[in-house]
Amino acid sequence: MKKHIVVLPGDGIGTEVSEAAKKVLEAAAEEFDHTFTFEEQAIGGTAIDRYGSPLPDETVAACKNADAVLLGAVGGPKWDQNPSHLRPEKGLLGIRKELNLFANLRPVQGFSNLLHASPLKREVVENSDLLIVRELTGGLYFGTPSERRDGGNSVVDTLAYSRHEIERIVKRAFEAASVRRKHVTSVDKANVLESSKLWREIVEEVSKDYPEVTVEHMLVDAAAMKLITSPSQFDVIVTENMFGDILSDEASVLTGSLGMLPSASLNDSGFGLYEPVHGSAPDIAGEGKANPLAAILSAAMMLKHSFGMNEEAQRIESAVSEALEQGYHTADLDLPGGQQVNTERMTETVIDLLKANTTTSSIMSC
Ligand code: NAD
Ligand code: IPM
Ligand code: MN
Repeated sequence: MKKHIVVLPGDGIGTEVSEAAKKVLEAAAEEFDHTFTFEEQAIGGTAIDRYGSPLPDETVAACKNADAVLLGAVGGPKWDQNPSHLRPEKGLLGIRKELNLFANLRPVQGFSNLLHASPLKREVVENSDLLIVRELTGGLYFGTPSERRDGGNSVVDTLAYSRHEIERIVKRAFEAASVRRKHVTSVDKANVLESSKLWREIVEEVSKDYPEVTVEHMLVDAAAMKLITSPSQFDVIVTENMFGDILSDEASVLTGSLGMLPSASLNDSGFGLYEPVHGSAPDIAGEGKANPLAAILSAAMMLKHSFGMNEEAQRIESAVSEALEQGYHTADLDLPGGQQVNTERMTETVIDLLKANTTTSSIMSC
């Protein structure tokens, strides 16, 4: 199969981990006789420096012509004082909106060899396997903020959702749950927010179409607590944009590191942008310390969700799992007795195992 992939490396470790994921995709293409072509485009701070915009028109056009997009991460202290429209993060929000990528899937699954890597007790982390379905193109992130008032001391951000926006993400969550363990936890703040009350009503309505899926409503504060005290009670969590952002970083603790969490951002017709959940990690950028596995697992999600290449995706996931079982890990993972390696070596290890391993076993259930 021939596929054209646009790579948006972005900033900081984004360039390091997207390069790693690209190499793994190249290896997978070679193994399975596919032709993947790659086109690099600018986004974020790098694009601001080069083109004066965090999301140049050329980047948007290239993404629209691609079969899928792979993104590293954006942001960094260099641009933190920029005005809002010239922040790297605007580029990321812009591409999500331009491509209508409203459905953000963030699977959180502990690899057996990483149970000790979490600061949480082994018995708490064991058997956790959940999927956060985060709404990605609405809510607080996309409300137009007011001008500063009161001499610069007052401002308003708005949290707006339409029925259509809520319905489509909730349906995605029920669809996902129906091929998993058939349980949806809808996370909201319906004891305070009007938008959450509408969200809850719609979840109830949509749930009628999925009688085999059980549904539960949970307030976000309690959900934050339960996520790290009894994570195995969750199957699919569906929630609005900001809650999903916060809960997914929290959930990464179950896996041992934020550097382990992949994601897919999809539109209505299956087109997707794939990126690690983590950011540009300015504290370790350029040092070869970044964990490339979140980006590599995001590439596996690309193969599965955009190209229907399930076997290829499973080979990548198996290679990642095996590398960890053999004790290879980057500095962010605390694995006593294992072998600490840099980004490049970790990537090479995954590629070697991908080429050596002809058996496949599904690791991620999403
Ligand atoms: P971050 O996710 O970049 O880093 C948080 C911590 O996790 C840091 O200590 C970092 O070193 C560590 N970490 C993250 N990914 C890692 C990896 N792959 N391997 C090893 N360690 C890893 O969050 P932050 O520091 O709050 O934000 C830094 C910048 O990244 C900000 O500008 C922010 O806006 C941006 N950001 C971008 C994205 C994205 O592009 N999707 C996501 C989150 C944050
Ligand atoms: C993420 C990031 C982004 C978000 C930022 C960089 C805009 O934190 O992808 O999780 O909040 O969505
Ligand atoms: Mn985030």
